[in-house]
Parts: sequence; structure tokens; C-alpha cells
Amino acid sequence: MSFTVAIDGPAAAGKGTISKAVAQHFGFAHLDTGLLYRAVGAKVLAGAEPVEAARALTAEDLAAEGLRTPEVARAASQVAVEPEVRAALVDFQRAFAARAGGAVLDGRDIGTVICPEAPAKLFVTASAEVRAERRLRELIARGHVTDFDAVLEDVKARDARDSARTVAPLKPADDAVVIDTSDLSIEEAVAAAIDAISARR
Ligand code: CDP
Repeated sequence: MSFTVAIDGPAAAGKGTISKAVAQHFGFAHLDTGLLYRAVGAKVLAGAEPVEAARALTAEDLAAEGLRTPEVARAASQVAVEPEVRAALVDFQRAFAARAGGAVLDGRDIGTVICPEAPAKLFVTASAEVRAERRLRELIARGHVTDFDAVLEDVKARDARDSARTVAPLKPADDAVVIDTSDLSIEEAVAAAIDAISARR
């Protein structure tokens, strides 16, 4: 039987950590849909045409090195504005969501556009400052040289572009449970997510 968990939210809100933990808890498969847009963004930075890159995406592209950099995140949110890029990625995401045994998808438009019928929807958010702080720590741990102000500016610019676009803008679905992780530990955030999903099962 399929059971889809849709987890949306702004940049660096903790969606990835929560999604992985939730998928493990329930034994569901997990798809980080941001990776699809990052892979397209990376190809565009390498000279590809966005729509062609989206249509030709392969599993190897998703496993490529260097998709977690701020440059690729920026390119991802630029290609993500294009309706034809988004359209090229819909079937793959919906097929993943429908797989037997349950699936967790995290992104920006999972509860609103990709899987509006998902029984469990979460919108994970936190203040821009807290999110920038977390992303800064991740980037430094991966060896990037950057600072808080640069990361905060990136996060805010990406949120503004993701929220303002006309196709599939970042926003909570009407029936999403909102989890603000600003003052929560990872354990508390994961527990809140598991409770919310359990209530919908
Ligand atoms: O990890 P982080 O939250 O910073 O970003 P991500 O989830 O990897 O997404 C990178 C970019 O891809 C976002 O800023 C969005 O512009 C885009 N995206 C999207 O438009 N729709 C999705 N379902 C997932 C990501």
C-alpha cells in the first residue's frame, strides 16, 4: 500500500534531517526533491539548457559531487522558476510518491502541487537567522569558506525567489501541519513530525 508524506519548507529549515528520520522510523523511502533542481542547476552552470537538462536527468546526475554548494543552490532556485523545468520533473516525483511501502518527499511544492492528495503534509520552517546559522555550520563542516552574513543573504534571496514565483510557489498546503523548528532540538523536531504523521495514518 502507498502512503505519501509531503514535507515542504524554506531553505535549511531542517526538512532533510526530519525527512530522513521520519522515513527511517516508518520504513518509507525518501526523495529529496531539492536534489533534482540542484542537479539541473549544476548542469546549467556547466553550460546546459535548463529544460533539456531537466528532461535528460539521470540517477547518476543526482549522485554527482558538489550539489550542496551555495552556487548550485542559487542556480537551482533560478531554474526552478521555469514552468517547463518543473513539468519535466513531475512524473518522476509522482511515481516515487506512489511506490508501495510508503514514501517521504521533501521540497517546496510537494503538498501543494506534486502530491496534493498526500494524507500527511508537514511545513517545516524556522527563522531566517536560525536557518542561516544551521546552513553555515553545514557548509563549514564540508570545508566551504563563507560567513554568516553571506549565508543569510543567500537564504533570504532564495526564499524570496521561491515564494514569489508564479508556478508552484513555496507556501504551506491548507491542510499542512506547520512545525517551527527555531527553538526545537533535532530530536524534538523529529518527534513532532512523527506525531503529526501518526495522527494521519
Ligand atoms: O537544502 P535547501 O533547503 O537549502 O534547498 P533544496 O531543498 O535542495 O532546494 C534547492 C532549490 O530547489 C530551492 O531553493 C528551490 O528553488 C528548488 N526546489 C523547488 O523549486 N521545488 C522543490 N520541490 C524542491 C526544490
